[in-house]
Amino acid sequence: MELTYRPRRLRRTPALRSIVREHALSVTDFIYPLFVHEADTVEPVDAMPGTSRWSISGLVSEVQRAWDLGVRCIVLFPKVPKELKTQDGAECLNEDGLIPRTIRRIKQAVPQMIIMTDVALDPYSCDGHDGIVSEAGIILNDETVEQLCRQALVQARAGADLIGPSDMMDGRVGAIREALDNEGFAHVGILSYTAKYSSAYYGPFREALDSAPSPEISKPIPENKDTYQMDPANAREAIVEARLDEQEGADIIMVKPGLAYLDIIRCLREESTLPIAAYNVSGEYSMVKAAAERGWINEKAVVLETLLSFKRAGADLILTYHACDAAVWLKED
Ligand code: PBG
Repeated sequence: MELTYRPRRLRRTPALRSIVREHALSVTDFIYPLFVHEADTVEPVDAMPGTSRWSISGLVSEVQRAWDLGVRCIVLFPKVPKELKTQDGAECLNEDGLIPRTIRRIKQAVPQMIIMTDVALDPYSCDGHDGIVSEAGIILNDETVEQLCRQALVQARAGADLIGPSDMMDGRVGAIREALDNEGFAHVGILSYTAKYSSAYYGPFREALDSAPSPEISKPIPENKDTYQMDPANAREAIVEARLDEQEGADIIMVKPGLAYLDIIRCLREESTLPIAAYNVSGEYSMVKAAAERGWINEKAVVLETLLSFKRAGADLILTYHACDAAVWLKED
């Protein structure tokens, strides 16, 4: 054939492919989510093979290992004992609670590690919702935002570097920014869960923390989070959320889940100049693990390809339970 263009020319050798490669994964792209509980034991999470509910001291060694592999940011999630859960999630305000204690221990042992925290009431709520549920079964927006501001301050006082509101209440980013600034935490950043969809992919995470919405006899508890998390059918709405978060002072915006929402990452990349994070959530992780355990896929290749797809879509940062494995694999290549 007499072809002018032969795209295969640039695919001929590894060296040629490497000089025209558009995107690359780096270990500094990763944010590593970790679960912590009160017990002294390290408990594997059944639905997420390879992850654990760490004791505080076990978690500190895992954070050190992640740091040594080049990971520079972690995000903490607490499994709160049932007896401490209340309707207003007040345990999240305990300055000596699980998260503040964990933050202080990490800061002693691995002071340079960036610590991100999750702001939402669900791990602390007996109702299993991110906000306060009224007697009528409504998730109260403004009352919740006040509680979230207090929660963010407790985390900042303990030493959190990045506050991650994952609750999807209206106006929370601006309110948290103001609360932080008023208390002398102007240097603490906000990584907002900007476009967080009401997704079935969070199932394994809710098992890890025992935090799923739970029906109660005394009042009607909504069984899903559809009145605050976004409808998976919507894309333009993500732009609305991103504009609001920018105006309200978010430093980094996030799309969650990641894989089924690559179009949203691309859309926000074109819309915003802020750094964008993608959350490669628990259900995405568990599906890969399950298939790999059965020998149906090559885990390393699938994970690296998936993580790269977030970069290609326009993400700067990736929250992923694969962070340490991927860090090791990137060194191998
Ligand atoms: C809680 C929160 C959730 C996740 C992160 N923060 C669950 C939810 O909204 O129900 C999910 C993370 C994952 O699935 O990996 N606000």
